[in-house]
Amino acid sequence: MKKLTANGTELAYTDEGAGEALVFLHAFPLNHAMWNDQVSAFSKSRRVITFDWRGFGESSQGDKETSMEVFADDLSGLLSGLQIDRATICGLSMGGYAAFAFFRKYADRVSALILADTKATADTDEGKRGRYETAETVRSKGMTPIIESMIPKLIGETTLKRDPAVVSRVESMMRTAQPEGVAQALIGMAARPDSVELLAKIDCPTLIIVGNEDKLTPPADAEKMSRAIRGSRMVTIADSGHLPNIEQPEKFNQAMSIFLT
Ligand code: MLT
Repeated sequence: MKKLTANGTELAYTDEGAGEALVFLHAFPLNHAMWNDQVSAFSKSRRVITFDWRGFGESSQGDKETSMEVFADDLSGLLSGLQIDRATICGLSMGGYAAFAFFRKYADRVSALILADTKATADTDEGKRGRYETAETVRSKGMTPIIESMIPKLIGETTLKRDPAVVSRVESMMRTAQPEGVAQALIGMAARPDSVELLAKIDCPTLIIVGNEDKLTPPADAEKMSRAIRGSRMVTIADSGHLPNIEQPEKFNQAMSIFLT
């Protein structure tokens, strides 16, 4: 991967195609490769950027602790380094939390938003406690326990039954994650502010996508966002859990294509 220093850390990224910029923000605890099917589809007509968040994949943690705001600053630094002023931002789950942080601070750099399998609410106290415990577990035991507990939550029932290749692809992204980066992202997600009030301020074209079998950020969360973001469109992807861009890439890409054109 190519590397660029942004906001004091070295970020690994891919940059393919030409035209209007389309930037993908990956989920937890995966990496840029979760977007491979979207890169091949959309780089024919656009400039498509994927990257690893600090502490994930091939990006270094740098000297700052992870927060959604730090992620937003990293993204802003990456765009500046690539001489991109404005882009369509597509974030899935944690990528969506970071997209909210980016819009909060850099709205003028966002030409359109795609919010996939994410939610605007902050964590409950119980949710935060769970994240702190998981961060401890990852620091002391590595990724194996989190992989075992997360796979059935990330991947939908249909894919779990029918598509072992998807399960092993997701598992291998998780297995190669950096435990310290994962722990920091958990703490950063626990600290994220509520973005519900921000939804009314989102004034760019927005597409909301959700898998109908998503257990982590179910369709009800997507419907709430869709009601609160003026003029937004919502697409539900059948036979998919939390990762529709991997579980049902053709349907996901079709929803994106219709929105982008
Ligand atoms: C993700 O897919 O990014 C995570 O499930 C987000 C979360 O844990 O809230």
